[in-house]
Amino acid sequence: MTEPVRPDALRPDPALIRGRRQWPLPRQADPSAPLLEVENLAVRFKMPGGSVKAVDGVSFRLDDGEALGIAGESGCGKTTTALSLVQLLPANGRIRSGSVKLFGIDLAQKSERQLNRYRWREISLVFQGAMNALNPVQRVGHQVAEPIEVRLGQSREASRRRAAELLDLVGIPAARASAYPHELSGGMRQRAMIAMALACDPAIVIGDEPTTALDVMVQAQILQLLEQLRRDLGLSLMLITHDLSVIAETCDRVMIMYAGRVAEEGPVRRVFTAPRHPYTRRLLSAFPNIHADRRTLEVIPGQLPDLRNPPPGCRFAPRCAEAMAVCSTEVPAEVRFDDGVRVACHLFPSGAAATAETAAPLTVPAGAAVEGAR
Ligand SMILES: Nc1ncnc2c1ncn2[C@@H]1O[C@H](COP(=O)(O)OP(=O)(O)O)[C@@H](O)[C@H]1O
Ligand SMILES: [Mg+2]
Repeated sequence: MTEPVRPDALRPDPALIRGRRQWPLPRQADPSAPLLEVENLAVRFKMPGGSVKAVDGVSFRLDDGEALGIAGESGCGKTTTALSLVQLLPANGRIRSGSVKLFGIDLAQKSERQLNRYRWREISLVFQGAMNALNPVQRVGHQVAEPIEVRLGQSREASRRRAAELLDLVGIPAARASAYPHELSGGMRQRAMIAMALACDPAIVIGDEPTTALDVMVQAQILQLLEQLRRDLGLSLMLITHDLSVIAETCDRVMIMYAGRVAEEGPVRRVFTAPRHPYTRRLLSAFPNIHADRRTLEVIPGQLPDLRNPPPGCRFAPRCAEAMAVCSTEVPAEVRFDDGVRVACHLFPSGAAATAETAAPLTVPAGAAVEGAR
């Protein structure tokens, strides 16, 4: 893969970020390898009516200290992509092909037992609705301390101290450490989940709709918290959300998924101001004002294809106003532009000069500008 252009040079130095790790890199790590490099990932779910091709040829990269937003309608494969990184998939799901390289180590080849070295310790997850993820009969302080003791082998006392620090870091007062989950507000529970996700000092935190169940004020506070943690701890984030304004406010790069594939990926500012893929343009025009309007994406006519039997060419073709004959027969190749955006769409044939200039004249939906995007 060629090195993408990065308009945002404000991120901390990767060496600095890795220098802040509390735990050494895994033994097989290649210190010069990118943080995370996913290539051609395909995930299937076995179902009575045939296998669901939930993720099909997804590639992306996450660098140290970077925040990558993943967006797309419900059912596009966002959660499946995230869960497959450390193979926390439901029992009927498995990685069919591709690689998931963390510090150059391919996690897709690891056994269940080996993966335990990476789950929570290198890649941790924050889900939507902390009530289901927290243990209702254990105090939150204990739930944060436990992984430190069990996974990192710290003493009970050290684990407890670290848990108190973490709770403080995410804005839970020390006195609340002895509370049970039901005694906390939705926002506080989500903070506790984030503290748990941070417990083992992971390199990557994945938030899967981490703020969706919360009201707008609390959402903003949780996003601010993630921002702050990213800055202070040098965390690398993957933020899955159907809310494009959240991505505009918090992420460096955005990956738009459609029906298990990447439609478009690139720097947030580029993708949101000059969207190229017709699907991205539809998504953005569903958000007339990315800051004020938090409508969801249901306004795009048509439905996702049946992923047991997806259309042979571009999966978006049946819903695409710009579809051509080739779109229903051939899978579009990913084309990389000189501004760091890549797009899989027959409107941009591979081999043509892929400069941002040639792409820019395409319709930019009125009002879809994202001034605040970084
Ligand atoms: N355990 C499962 N068994 C069968 N199909 C599944 C399972 N989990 C998810 N899927 C299917 O995989 C596709 C992607 O789902 P998901 O990754 O949850 O999408 P998203 O997170 O973008 O909403 C959907 O078609 C969904 O129905
Ligand atoms: Mg999901």
